[in-house]
Amino acid sequence: MTGELSPIDTAKFVAAKRAVDFVEDGMKVGLGTGSTAAWMVRCLGELVREDGLSVVGVPTSTRTAELARKVGVDVVSLDQAKWLDLTIDGADEFDPDLNLIKGGGGALLQEKIVATASDRMIVITDASKRVDSLGAFPLPLEVVPFGWQTTKALIEETLAGLDVLGQSCTLRLNGEAPFVTDEGNYIVDLHLHRIANPRQASLVLNQIPGVVENGLFIDICDVVVIGHGDGRVEVNDINSGTTEQDRIDFVESANMFSDLSE
Ligand code: A5P
Repeated sequence: MTGELSPIDTAKFVAAKRAVDFVEDGMKVGLGTGSTAAWMVRCLGELVREDGLSVVGVPTSTRTAELARKVGVDVVSLDQAKWLDLTIDGADEFDPDLNLIKGGGGALLQEKIVATASDRMIVITDASKRVDSLGAFPLPLEVVPFGWQTTKALIEETLAGLDVLGQSCTLRLNGEAPFVTDEGNYIVDLHLHRIANPRQASLVLNQIPGVVENGLFIDICDVVVIGHGDGRVEVNDINSGTTEQDRIDFVESANMFSDLSE
């Protein structure tokens, strides 16, 4: 099976496979968005179908909701679930304090709401997302379409007062048209290169009228599970300060990988 996966997909898969060990019977689980989270939804579906695990999932995007239903995970809304035991999601960057940049897939708003409404957030990732300081990955801001150019100008003005290396902003496109989020908003990507004070940046950027949310996840993530292309995984828990090493055995059903679309 591993022979069919690239090293990067193997890394994402083993991180996802290790992370679903944290899911217990009866839990309400936030389901992240992106290629790594898609592996996790597949792994969870396998546990539901083959081991009779009983869970409900709260998806963070329409893409994830579709996949979850397809693999047999019961889906409810956050308002139905109200509070979650656990959220498992990917990230675009994580730093030594497990602060994150998310939103590369455009689902940052629902992802932040769902992760914040969870007792615990586990991030699943490959090692390439680990950084000393956040900001090489463009920081996504979700903005309302009304007056978005004015909002973008205000964002640029605000960046001049922040300790960041770059200050350019671009509207995210889907072909020729603006990329539209599940909430009907636009995304402005901030090319900051290095964010000296992510906590301050997050607070200041969210004060701008028209900005709905930013992709900095500060003090939200509890555990990061880092997968490697050779099947090794590291589990770093920021609360206990522990790091565990593990290795995943590849014994899967073929249908688990047959229609993964992300
Ligand atoms: C989705 O909006 C993002 O926050 C993703 O979680 C993030 O971009 C990671 O995606 P991949 O797992 O595809 O790298």
